[in-house]
Amino acid sequence: MSAKTARSASEQSLHDFSKAIDRSALSTLKWEMEIDRLGDKDLFSFGTADLDFRSPPAVVEALHRAVEAGHFGYPLRRPSYYDAVTGYLSRRFGWQVEKTWIDACVAIYPSMHSIIMELTQAGDEIIYQPPVHHVFAEIVKANDRVPVANQLINRGGTYEMDFAGLEACITDRTKLLLLCSPHNPVGRVWTRDELKELARICSERGVIVVSDEVYSGMLYEGTEFTPFAAVSEWAAMNSYCLFSPSKPFNLTGLKHSIVVTPNPVLRDAFRRGLLRANLQYGGSALGYAAAEVAFRDCDDWSHALMHHIAGNHAYVTDLIRSFLPEVTVPVAEAAYFAWLDLSRLNTPKAVYEPLIERQAKLVVTYGEPMGPGGENHIRINLGTSRTILEAGMRRLLSVLVPLTGRSFDESAC
Ligand SMILES: Cc1ncc(COP(=O)(O)O)c(C=O)c1O
Repeated sequence: MSAKTARSASEQSLHDFSKAIDRSALSTLKWEMEIDRLGDKDLFSFGTADLDFRSPPAVVEALHRAVEAGHFGYPLRRPSYYDAVTGYLSRRFGWQVEKTWIDACVAIYPSMHSIIMELTQAGDEIIYQPPVHHVFAEIVKANDRVPVANQLINRGGTYEMDFAGLEACITDRTKLLLLCSPHNPVGRVWTRDELKELARICSERGVIVVSDEVYSGMLYEGTEFTPFAAVSEWAAMNSYCLFSPSKPFNLTGLKHSIVVTPNPVLRDAFRRGLLRANLQYGGSALGYAAAEVAFRDCDDWSHALMHHIAGNHAYVTDLIRSFLPEVTVPVAEAAYFAWLDLSRLNTPKAVYEPLIERQAKLVVTYGEPMGPGGENHIRINLGTSRTILEAGMRRLLSVLVPLTGRSFDESAC
């Protein structure tokens, strides 16, 4: 066998997303917590945003090496770590970042929390753009700041930012805007022009942007992502971009993220926040070991994963179009979600939620906690094998199709 053939054979086995992971030794919020909550081993979980796959082999090997060394002291950020991060941002997004712009944290939301605490006072207003991951509003409220919703516009399944709404909702108390880019759950990757317009409005009104870019490592093929800070000089000097290997490489439990800002004043503010929270000692040693390799060596794995996810999204979209045309599914450009609008089923959540959970034995994420625009939507996590997805979708259709008055013929799908 030639070296080339040998490599492609091993790459195929490394990238086998057709098989779900063996869960027997796992204990996760996504599956095991739900099995305990519903007391049902037969359920499928399409909820919590984790993948049902092992992390990339290179990451698992790096973790083995770290465990073998057997010492888990406070980690030092080595030049190789910075090279991995700057190389990733340059290679994937064409963004040239200097090492001094980079800080690390234990996850996206603790870094968002530090920024909120340092740059705002109790009672200040912070804009978010729902429907969006529920923590955006929660983290603001929990810290006695005021979340102000600038709802996305849904044009027949295509989501846009409401720029007129944004101009209208900025007041003297507005200090920050929390941007979700790419957007969870709607799957949009904001274009450079959209981000420029957002930057223009925020610059005129003195609003700092905190851009949660955790899903930028999960782009559908052919999609171009622009970090917010890369759209203009103003954006660079008035924003934080938050990245993490957590979602793209299935490392949420290893607690590692990065914060990038070229502005030394904003950087100092962030570091003050870390100090106040006593988070300045650098986080998880295993998180660092995994992050460096994930950012440096796992592009092939990542592309193969997104190819699989895109196939899953197309499968769900086609199935829904055939069996449940009342339900719309927006085109996705990033992340691993299908965002289903159930409003034309004219059925209250109080009716469909128990059908989905108890009868279909499916865990999905409901849209209501994601704020205005999330009502009567469900989010399906596509980060699973096609076999599980197909079985789960049959279960979902078996409870939703009858709500239209039609019967569901499982053998037809
Ligand atoms: C938009 C968004 N940001 C951040 C997170 C959490 O990321 P981390 O675990 O790195 O804090 C999530 C989790 O689902 C998310 O949806």
